[in-house]
Amino acid sequence: MWWFVNLAIFHLLGFLLLVPTLPIQAMTHHHNFVVADTPYSRLCSNKSILTVNGQFPGPTIYVTEGDTIVIDVINRARENITIHWHGVNQPRYPWSDGPEYITQCPIQPGSMFNQRIVLSVEVGTLWWHAHSDWSRATVHGALIVYPRKKNDYPFPIPHAEIPIILGEWWKSDIQAVLNEFLQNGGDPNNSDAFLINGQPGDLYPCSRQGLISPLHFFDEI
Ligand SMILES: *[C@@H]1O[C@H](CO)[C@@H](O)[C@H](O)[C@H]1NC(C)=O
Ligand SMILES: *[C@@H]1O[C@H](CO)[C@@H](O)[C@H](O)[C@H]1NC(C)=O
Ligand SMILES: *[C@@H]1O[C@H](CO)[C@@H](O)[C@H](O)[C@H]1NC(C)=O
Repeated sequence: MWWFVNLAIFHLLGFLLLVPTLPIQAMTHHHNFVVADTPYSRLCSNKSILTVNGQFPGPTIYVTEGDTIVIDVINRARENITIHWHGVNQPRYPWSDGPEYITQCPIQPGSMFNQRIVLSVEVGTLWWHAHSDWSRATVHGALIVYPRKKNDYPFPIPHAEIPIILGEWWKSDIQAVLNEFLQNGGDPNNSDAFLINGQPGDLYPCSRQGLISPLHFFDEI
């Protein structure tokens, strides 16, 4: 019977060793990103900007470490576009990493691209942005990757989590700013305002009042 007992012990040991390392089911998240020109008003001035799903900044995507994101990027704009997932390693899957003409051809107006973002070791707040010309000035958003083990943060659990996205606003069309400085060989024109989560602060002429106050500021998010 010794072999039976031995076998049983090995089975038990094997079971104990295997249980904690059983793979935890990673999730696949599906989203649609519709890229289109959208009217926006800032600093008492109107213009059309390129947005994802009409939002500026674009949608925040929440996932867990090791998940996969599948996005249908639908280009309803008049220009080529790609989306880059900044800080994601994409192990063995560089084919939809984003930089135009490096890992993929741009997504042309009227077409759709099924983009797969493979997360592995990334944890924390990353971002996604257009990777074609200056479209990234308005086509960007946050990617929040939670650790797989709950409470596995290198800091005390915060009372609240508020993504803060810094940007710039030109009253002119950003493509015109780009074309102008490419032609002249100089620097691009300074932007008209710095933005926090898409809004210029109180101190800019003709900004919306009340943005500096933290309460109002967080209302905007
Ligand atoms: C901007 O657009 C809004 C809404 O269409 C309009 O009410 C406003 O008069 C426009 N402002 C300027 C400066 O054109
Ligand atoms: C858009 O992308 C297509 C395919 O890669 C390319 O042939 C075309 O020249 C691009 N258009 C512009 C304006 O860059
Ligand atoms: C850039 O700034 C110059 C000087 O203020 C102005 O004349 C020009 O129209 C600006 N270009 C764009 C594209 O806004």
